[in-house]
Amino acid sequence: MHLPPNPTLTLNDGRVMPQFGLGTWRMTDFEATASVRDAIGLGYRLIDTAAIYGNETGVGRGVQASGLRREELWVTTKVWNDRQGDVAAALRESLAKLQLDYVDLLLIHWPVPHQKRYVEAWRGLVELRSRGLARSIGVSNFDADHLEAIIADSRVVPAVNQIELHSGFQQRPLCEFHARHKIITQAWSPLGQGKVLLDPVIVAIAQKLRRSPAQVILRSHLQAGLSTIPKSSSPARIKENGALFDFAIPDADMAALLALDGGNRLGPDPAVFG
Ligand SMILES: NC(=O)c1ccc[n+]([C@@H]2O[C@H](COP(=O)([O-])OP(=O)(O)OC[C@H]3O[C@@H](n4cnc5c(N)ncnc54)[C@H](OP(=O)(O)O)[C@@H]3O)[C@@H](O)[C@H]2O)c1
Repeated sequence: MHLPPNPTLTLNDGRVMPQFGLGTWRMTDFEATASVRDAIGLGYRLIDTAAIYGNETGVGRGVQASGLRREELWVTTKVWNDRQGDVAAALRESLAKLQLDYVDLLLIHWPVPHQKRYVEAWRGLVELRSRGLARSIGVSNFDADHLEAIIADSRVVPAVNQIELHSGFQQRPLCEFHARHKIITQAWSPLGQGKVLLDPVIVAIAQKLRRSPAQVILRSHLQAGLSTIPKSSSPARIKENGALFDFAIPDADMAALLALDGGNRLGPDPAVFG
């Protein structure tokens, strides 16, 4: 199987990002090399990692092993919380591990409001973008008040906010804020870390459409205009999660999925985390 050309999203800086990609949290270096290589071989064109995942070396090896030309691939990494005062050095270290000259997208991983450094960190990312070391810049886990603070300071609107988003935690007010500011919403833990796959509503839609629950969820994200980055280290599930381009979720089922929103956050609250 080879996936058809990936759908893309145009960012507010004019660059074009694959809408769908591979998450790598909790992969070891060894797993990341195999999964990244296999996913690229199947047609995935976006890989999401982070300094804190401890697998940038493995991701870089997987990219090398894929043989894909650099410009055909989108690599995202993130600056961890303790490096907000020195984002340039943090990116240098990430690039060395990834064996890359630049990343396509660099994110501030969490705002960590009590550190009072994320505004300064964002200025640093703006500088890294001007140097071409990060082609696009964005944030992760920023609430609207954090976004407002960095936009007011820098006049630079993040291209992406990568946030926890799955059927049980849809963050609609924040997504509406993103839409008003032309920020792409990228869903982390889109499968609820596997926990939402047994939801009876999702299972029923999957049975009706003859797809898996994961495919239903991921396809619904694409139809909603979200970027989505499911993680799997299983070759079969990497393949399954990428097979999203030959079916559609009917409007009534999209509405049923929207109705599953229940405020069920799985990760930490960005207002206090870090
Ligand atoms: N910015 C942030 O703060 C942040 C936080 C969390 C995650 N992320 C990013 O978002 C990515 C995705 O989130 P996530 O890894 O937390 O969770 P996820 O993608 O929602 O779920 C991953 C889990 O689901 C399983 N799975 C994957 N595909 C499946 C399928 N088709 N059927 C059944 N089970 C399946 C995986 O197991 P197998 O591997 O065994 O298939 C794994 O246990 C991360 O990897 C990371 O890149 C970012």
